[in-house]
Amino acid sequence: MFSSLMKNGRLQVLLFLCCLLFVLACLLFAQPGPRRWTASVNMENLKDDEGFETKVSKEIFYQPSSSEKNFSEPILTNVSDLTQLLRERLALPNDALKITHKGACEGHETDVQPCSKEGCPALSAKPLEKRIKDLVLSPQFQLNDDQLRNILRVVRDVPETDIIIATASSSNHFKEMQAMFKALHSTVYPKLTNFTVVVFDIGLKKRQRKLTEKYCRCRVLTFPFKLFPPHVRELHCYGWKAIMIRGLITKARKLLIWQDTSIRWTDEFLSVFHRAMVFGQQFLESMHGARLTSHTLPQMFAYMGEESCQYFAYRETQCGFQVLKHDPLVIQAILNPWTRCALEQSCMCPVVPESVIRCSKSVSSFEPRCHRFDQSAMSIILSKLYAADRYRFAVPEYSNKNPKYVSIKRGDRLDDYFSRDGSLQ
Ligand SMILES: *[C@@H]1O[C@H](CO)[C@@H](O)[C@H](O)[C@H]1NC(C)=O
Ligand SMILES: *[C@@H]1O[C@H](CO)[C@@H](O)[C@H](O)[C@H]1NC(C)=O
Ligand SMILES: *[C@@H]1O[C@H](CO)[C@@H](O)[C@H](O)[C@H]1NC(C)=O
Repeated sequence: MFSSLMKNGRLQVLLFLCCLLFVLACLLFAQPGPRRWTASVNMENLKDDEGFETKVSKEIFYQPSSSEKNFSEPILTNVSDLTQLLRERLALPNDALKITHKGACEGHETDVQPCSKEGCPALSAKPLEKRIKDLVLSPQFQLNDDQLRNILRVVRDVPETDIIIATASSSNHFKEMQAMFKALHSTVYPKLTNFTVVVFDIGLKKRQRKLTEKYCRCRVLTFPFKLFPPHVRELHCYGWKAIMIRGLITKARKLLIWQDTSIRWTDEFLSVFHRAMVFGQQFLESMHGARLTSHTLPQMFAYMGEESCQYFAYRETQCGFQVLKHDPLVIQAILNPWTRCALEQSCMCPVVPESVIRCSKSVSSFEPRCHRFDQSAMSIILSKLYAADRYRFAVPEYSNKNPKYVSIKRGDRLDDYFSRDGSLQ
């Protein structure tokens, strides 16, 4: 039927008429030109949806629940409140594209495609309240008072601010960080007020640190490795990143943005901030990402008390980019379990990291081909909490080749931005 239509040309005529109709409809209903963001904004403006182009319509704009209104009050664990918040978030209209996979695992023993393992209960089958309880009440996911106190010491000198943007750099990322700041200074700084930018020094050379302090228009802090277990000092275990993020969220009244030095925003970045205010968070998931279990050691599943078979259907998410709302669900159901795992060598970094950090080219009988540390743990936790709805919390239309909001540009480096000439450009 379709092919015969194609042949006699009626389809072309039909298509042409459809396009014509569509164009006419657009002309009729279009707003009189896009409203442009000109003045500086703070998050109050974002909340008001004033003059802001976004796909998130005004009606669904998230209203903070009473427990979130007063920033200064300590957040108490209340499973029914958290479950309610999760239920509301999952019910919000959402234009994110569903990211799916292709059926059963049979035949996928030697590739890294997500797939459904036979006889394995789906994560989505678990009731919302049980998901919350498992994440916020399980002993292996709790932070004790000492751990929390040390985490808060990391951010002692960070001022409480509406928006915090943070990164970390060691000496081998110094040039990538300069390129990141050039991009931030031109794209992000002019559009925000009430924000703080933090760089954690995790091994900059003295000269690099001085230049960063002079030109970054940010705060440079030394990460106190001595407060944490020895494996955190091992940079390739990435435990430090979860600790920094858990600390920083306490200082961000509205949003915490974590970006590895390779992250670059486009001019449309405020849409992502806006979405995070609505949905609680935004992360990056590639349509081509590998199956979570092919990039995660079994020890991590064991620490978390998880059946790895349930995670074959999920791709890993990126972890070098996070936009997180200061919000009880995000802090208690995501960041606490993640940070606790980061503090445990047996969870985050059970073997010498150099032996698993590079992915081997071949996969055999569903064995992991590498481990992704912080990224593996975050991917498991997000899947556990949101299950098949996880895509709703990802940045929509993420593509590195044709970035709409944000991209990962590894290798984008500048040698001389942190100099008098560079910063005047
Ligand atoms: C917020 O909570 C703090 C600590 O409980 C309290 O002192 C303060 O009065 C509260 N502020 C408002 C506006 O309710
Ligand atoms: C949790 O909060 C609800 C109100 O949102 C309240 O009715 C309930 O008593 C609280 N539960 C606990 C254990 O504090
Ligand atoms: C910055 O935040 C403070 C405290 O929330 C507020 O009083 C002030 O008006 C804000 N400044 C701007 C320019 O938005």
